Amino acid sequence: MARKIKKSRFFFEENFIETIGEVSQNKYKPLKNNEKLKYLGKKISRIDGYDKASGTAVFTFDIDLPGITYAKTLRSPYANAKIKNIDDSKARKLKGVYEIIHYKNAPKIKWYYGSSFLFDQHVRYEGDEVACVVADSEELAEKAIGLISVEYEILPHATRAEEAMRNKVKIHKSGNIVRGKPGTYERGDINKGFEEADLVFEDEFSTEVAIHNPTEVHCSVVNWEGDKLIVWDSTQAVFGVRNSLAQSLGIPESNIRVIKKYMGGGFGSKLEAGKYTVMAALLAQKIGKPVKIALDRRENNLAVGNRPDSVQKLKGGVKSDGTLTALSHYSYSSVGAYPAGGGCSWPLRTMYKCPNVKVEEYSVYTNTGRGRPFRAPGHVQGIFALDSFMDELAEKIGMDPLEFRLKNYTKIDQVSGRPYSTKLLKECYKKGAKKIDWNKRNKIPGSGKGYLKRGIGMASQIWWGGGGPPAYVTLKLNQDGSVNILAGTQDLGTGTYTFIAQVAAEILEIPIENIDVTIGDTDVVPYGPGSGGSTTAPSIAPAVRDAAEQMKKKLFSGAAAILNVEQNEINYNSGKFYSKKDKKELIGINKIIRKMHERVLVTTGAREANNDNYMVQSFGAQFAEVEVDTLIGNVKVLKIVAAHDIGRTLNRQTLENQFHGGILQGLGFALMEEQIVDEYTGKILNANMHDYKMPTIYDVPEIEVVIVSEGDKIANNMGVKGIGEPAIIPTAGAIANAVYNAIGVRIKSLPLTPDKIIDSLYS
Ligand code: MOS
Repeated sequence: MARKIKKSRFFFEENFIETIGEVSQNKYKPLKNNEKLKYLGKKISRIDGYDKASGTAVFTFDIDLPGITYAKTLRSPYANAKIKNIDDSKARKLKGVYEIIHYKNAPKIKWYYGSSFLFDQHVRYEGDEVACVVADSEELAEKAIGLISVEYEILPHATRAEEAMRNKVKIHKSGNIVRGKPGTYERGDINKGFEEADLVFEDEFSTEVAIHNPTEVHCSVVNWEGDKLIVWDSTQAVFGVRNSLAQSLGIPESNIRVIKKYMGGGFGSKLEAGKYTVMAALLAQKIGKPVKIALDRRENNLAVGNRPDSVQKLKGGVKSDGTLTALSHYSYSSVGAYPAGGGCSWPLRTMYKCPNVKVEEYSVYTNTGRGRPFRAPGHVQGIFALDSFMDELAEKIGMDPLEFRLKNYTKIDQVSGRPYSTKLLKECYKKGAKKIDWNKRNKIPGSGKGYLKRGIGMASQIWWGGGGPPAYVTLKLNQDGSVNILAGTQDLGTGTYTFIAQVAAEILEIPIENIDVTIGDTDVVPYGPGSGGSTTAPSIAPAVRDAAEQMKKKLFSGAAAILNVEQNEINYNSGKFYSKKDKKELIGINKIIRKMHERVLVTTGAREANNDNYMVQSFGAQFAEVEVDTLIGNVKVLKIVAAHDIGRTLNRQTLENQFHGGILQGLGFALMEEQIVDEYTGKILNANMHDYKMPTIYDVPEIEVVIVSEGDKIANNMGVKGIGEPAIIPTAGAIANAVYNAIGVRIKSLPLTPDKIIDSLYS
């Protein structure tokens, strides 16, 4: 097992991370193209598909334990208030209520910010945690919540960035600009860039607050076995949750076991330990019983994350031949009271070739729920604005939008100066344009006849998603040729179990049915990172290959020793060794393991280091065809063509699932999803799935997924890049450009709801 401590870099969500850790030094040849492989790249149903379809799959919510109790949270009804007093005496008298915790009796656990505690007397948004009750049933816990009386001093609130930037309302002591200053970026000379331009143009775009709304709401079940805490949690990061629980509770990580077998989506809202998990652990400890805490849809909409809104002011300079000379971006976002992440300028910095760039972006605290990473954080908002703007520039200089993008194509990452490992965006443009029939679009926007107007538009995509170390996999080969894999990862519902089995089956030439995969259990699997940033497959698949290749080596040397031959005299094929000379079958896995006096052969694989001379990114373009009803303002998306360069396809079926999900989520963001705040009361008006409009089956367009790439030879030993986030990034931009092409009026504020369409057409 050749391993070394090495430095390498990768991107997780919007963060650039330098990893220094043990990585595999084993170098493997790039795999063949998918058509020559048996399992990889094929449409293979999920190995856990039966469990899910039959309802036997155990999700966190399904965990039931003897004596289990139920916790519910009392949340602030106000956007900004001080808690003067809490009286829980009435609630405590209710039979079947075990315990209630709040600022008066809970440990002062620091939470994210120095100025905030698990229970803070200053509640900063509607939904902020005030108290938590545990009782024999959820109904009883709810009832008890109604009996707690809280005295609030209501404070003025600021629910939108514009308001908070005036600094009249103090959300945190530090002021309302996150980190006290804007995020900035600059290259070249922006003024010179504008001077060199034949045309300088400015415009403003805005996007809404969107809610993750995964199918499965956030949920934890906790149980203390002595001083060991067992936590079933709906999370994207079992080790991340273990780590923050240990810190919050002040106990060793080894005393915490976090388990997550199945999950109904997270989209970035489940990357961290929730307050609900810590509250449940404290309550379970106090009462000596297991506790289940499941958020309801309203809590899910208020308190566990959102995609922050954005106001983006773009300015561009372009020469009459279409060369971009300058791009600047000024933006601000309402990121809530306890945000993570923020910013939406990344695509502008490097999507299109431009020597002079300037960025200034503000993340602003607001009295609303926390902004969290949400499927391609920043990029979805950023690409909508940038690609709308690119279309505007193209039109102003009389160029085809695709031609304009090709004119400003870059083969290097302009921020780091490094070349891309691969960039097949030109192929995406070409194939996507052909599939949507690009020439069919209106030469003059809005020139279609009749009241149903059709249009075609496109947008590009860039995302990190290269993954990296550390990520480990333990592979156990049993005497009967079956395999157990323990991988340091978890499945958000994207198909992680299945691709792990596929990689092992491919390399070891063992039927996929004989491979069992265990993930999502911190006591059982080796370490691996959280599932975010589209890094799961590119981080874990190479480690699976490493473990499987080492196992093959082990079998080779075992077989050679037993047969008393040189390794180069024998061939391996599907679990058996043959003589190279006369093709005679010599020995199989079963006999090798027995002769080695073992029952189980074990190897551990590690993700290799990234090649820092290159930038690994995925690329793509989506093309939309829409039909706008100009009488009622409704937009129907007829077709989306998604053409992407995402390295090797591991599983064509789960890949298409991911694209369908991403595109539909992008369609919702483009046309209907929007959290609505009443600015006067600071309350959320649509914290449910009736009033918060999400796409339904009725809205699903025809979707065609075109993958232009085979394995990326530089990215990692499997040639794979992530696809979860690339799938959503260009959708809204493509739809917005298509709507413009259909009606000839550009709406610069998402979502493109009927009222905005009608206003823009008739006012
Ligand atoms: Mo992250 S937004 O869960 O990829």
